[in-house]
Amino acid sequence: MTARRPLIAGNWKMNMHKADGIALATAVAARYRALGPASFDLLMCPPATLVDAVVTAVAGTGALVGGQDASAHEKGAHTGDTSAWALAALGATYVIVGHSERRVDHHETDAAVKAKAAAVLAAGLTPIICVGETAAERQAGETLAVVARQIKGSIPDGTTAEAIVIAYEPVWAIGTGLTPTTADVAEVHAAVRRDAGAVLGGGADKLRILYGGSVKPDNAKAFLSLEDVDGALVGGASLKADDFFGIASAVA
Ligand code: PGA
Repeated sequence: MTARRPLIAGNWKMNMHKADGIALATAVAARYRALGPASFDLLMCPPATLVDAVVTAVAGTGALVGGQDASAHEKGAHTGDTSAWALAALGATYVIVGHSERRVDHHETDAAVKAKAAAVLAAGLTPIICVGETAAERQAGETLAVVARQIKGSIPDGTTAEAIVIAYEPVWAIGTGLTPTTADVAEVHAAVRRDAGAVLGGGADKLRILYGGSVKPDNAKAFLSLEDVDGALVGGASLKADDFFGIASAVA
């Protein structure tokens, strides 16, 4: 076991309205609280519309709340965007940036992700910076090169390993039920730690690196017990309290 505190993060994506979102957050947070002093952080990232309500629902349980994206700007003429400072004011403590669905659907480049991560840090929050290769890139043997390029391009200047989290999410494993082998995950996470350490100028042993992509209760333990895997970023399975907590239990 490493000294890094594990982080189990749920990415609700564009799911849940007010009542069902509050019910889910309340159920998950109650189970987290029932553990007593937890040995890991538990985070839920609802749609921006629900951050306020979910923060209220989990108050006093120790469960954390985050956003799924944030603008590179603090405020101003950016119709439809969400400010990291506004998320912070609601009580969010983390923001996912550079998720592959944002990189693909909204053409976010590494430079854009880096600017967003910098804004999240400036707002006093922790960015979860997502990286990962496509199926074609893996088949071409480019996984480590792609991830290295994304890490170099997406980590803000002048930050530290403790201030950020990186999530390795192979694009082809997201929402598909497919996963890399544990050997593949171990290899990429070790490379992420090495590459990020070089960008950060040290402290890589303090960097939390999450695995994401079809994490379920029945495969969580296999990934979470790997040396360089410090938690999980969970999509589909974070929408059911039993499944999400089943995954969290793998580190409890
Ligand atoms: P999944 O999504 O768990 O549904 O594969 C993971 C993610 O996109 O963060």
